[in-house]
Amino acid sequence: MSNSALTGPRRGLLAAGLMALGIGMLPRTAGAAAPLLPAGQKATPQTLPPLPFAPTALDPVISEKTFSFHHGKHHKAYFDNLAKLVAGTPEATQTLEEIILASATDPARKGVFNNAAQAWNHNFYWSSLSPEAQTPTGPLAAAIARDFGSFETLKTQLAAVCVAQFASGWGWLVHDNGKLKLVSTSNADIPFLHGQTPLLTIDVWEHAYYLDAQNRRADYVKGVVESHLNWRFAELNFAG
Ligand SMILES: [Fe+2]
Repeated sequence: MSNSALTGPRRGLLAAGLMALGIGMLPRTAGAAAPLLPAGQKATPQTLPPLPFAPTALDPVISEKTFSFHHGKHHKAYFDNLAKLVAGTPEATQTLEEIILASATDPARKGVFNNAAQAWNHNFYWSSLSPEAQTPTGPLAAAIARDFGSFETLKTQLAAVCVAQFASGWGWLVHDNGKLKLVSTSNADIPFLHGQTPLLTIDVWEHAYYLDAQNRRADYVKGVVESHLNWRFAELNFAG
């Protein structure tokens, strides 16, 4: 996929948004820490970023109370736990991506992996959310039409994947060998560890929705899919 779809002011706007998250975009010439990491997600510091919107912005689908716990307690705890685990080691100054890639296949370092990956996943989740309803445009819209038939079909299938994920995990739209796919991962797992570039994610751990929807995961997922996905962010990752 060409990078040309996101140049000029549009790319600058997205970059500014990512910078607000503390994520930052690497120059195109910098080379990738890993080829399947999305654009702007290759050098993430071990620092809890602020939410990229007001905590009331997605109410009632996701309430301020949920964000206060999810971002302020759960997400913060992953960073705090990781800092304790890597204190005094070379990993203390590494990026989340470096730590994730180095620890993913080492069972002895499961704690480091889980906390680093969950810190990364939640960064990606906040960026995947939008206060306003959006629709895909440009090359991503064309790829959705090619691979799913329609945007409506994609939304229906994405919601189904999220609802079907057993226990804690994530629903994802990914780019895999030139094709868009919908996948789910368990616990802290991430598609880029399986050869897929993530474009968007929805957190389906119970802590993401239980305060607002209790056991009704499908209601939370439907609300996010219909009205609160950041398709500008997905386009950036698709172009990456
Ligand atoms: Fe979460």
